[in-house]
Amino acid sequence: IKSDRESMLIVNSFAQEYFSNILFQHSEGRSVGLAYFHERGFRDDIIHKFALGYSLEQRDALAIEAKKRGYKEEYLLKTGLCLEGQNGYISDRFRGRVIFPVFSLSGKVLAFGGRVLRKSDKLAKYVNSPESEVYHKSNVLYGIYQAKQSIVKNDNCFLVEGYTDVLSMHQAGVENVVASSGTSLTPGQIRLIHRFTNNITVIYDGDAAGIKASLRGIDLILKEGMNIKVVLLPDGDDPDSFAKKQSASSFTEYIKNHEVDFIRFKTNLLLDSAGNDPIKRAELISDIVQSIAIIPDTIVRSVYTKECSRLMEISEEVLLREINKIKLSQL
Ligand code: CTP
Ligand code: MN
Ligand code: MN
Ligand code: MN
Ligand code: MN
Repeated sequence: IKSDRESMLIVNSFAQEYFSNILFQHSEGRSVGLAYFHERGFRDDIIHKFALGYSLEQRDALAIEAKKRGYKEEYLLKTGLCLEGQNGYISDRFRGRVIFPVFSLSGKVLAFGGRVLRKSDKLAKYVNSPESEVYHKSNVLYGIYQAKQSIVKNDNCFLVEGYTDVLSMHQAGVENVVASSGTSLTPGQIRLIHRFTNNITVIYDGDAAGIKASLRGIDLILKEGMNIKVVLLPDGDDPDSFAKKQSASSFTEYIKNHEVDFIRFKTNLLLDSAGNDPIKRAELISDIVQSIAIIPDTIVRSVYTKECSRLMEISEEVLLREINKIKLSQL
């Protein structure tokens, strides 16, 4: 007797193979889905590595095929692959979309993301599987299965926003990369990375939302006792669009040359607007001090205190006094 969980994973695995087969073998899959990936410049080895797929336009294509193969409606609904209408009619959640399966650490298919092929006012750009017994979004990272060995080897993990950012980084030869996929980063996701490394490099989209999310990520990652670096991309670019404007080697060079620790990241950002205004400078220092106070390790904390003192030209004693004040107030 199988548990619900097992039955859901089995039907997800079937659906993943089904969507992949459609992408490569069905005429609509090839002319619409595969053509889309190729137009965006994704190579077939990457498409295979991430088991990408395509869902047909027909409203119940997957439901019909799955039932024909003996999969139960119950699990099509529990995984969210299908939806039940008021009349009891079963239709597919993913229709006319390219499909990104989300794998667990051990390679089980937990969920799917589906992207529309062209901009639309009516349709959300991405549709994702709902939370379920097998899919707890806050503890899952897109790409972790394909990245884990490389994370250990490099003792570092790149963190990006989106599915296609992960694909493009792999295509550029950077395999230690995962995506938080739109959900704001959670402690569970950070702990998942922490199983493999102490070091995270955040490369979010180079827009206001991406910068805001990076700032939020900093404190969460510091709290987990990990080291964080941040790469700021040119305004309007994400890792995917930026990688595609250049060769793989100049992309990785950019990352190497632009990754900075959190103090420099905050300093670069805020000094741009603060300039030499003493009040703004004071606000920036107190912002940085708040983050330093989060760091659990005394030695690491002291290293960053020194750096802040040097960069902001303020005495270490003053900083230490502030940090201790914050820590005391948190007891
Ligand atoms: N996302 C989502 N639902 C949306 C928009 C975004 O789930 N309506 C998630 C997706 O996982 C997406 C990520 O948030 O990959 C980042 O969003 P965005 O930057 O808007 O998309 P991109 O990944 O850049 O997608 P693309 O390049 O295909 O436009
Ligand atoms: Mn650690
Ligand atoms: Mn974005
Ligand atoms: Mn993006
Ligand atoms: Mn993008």
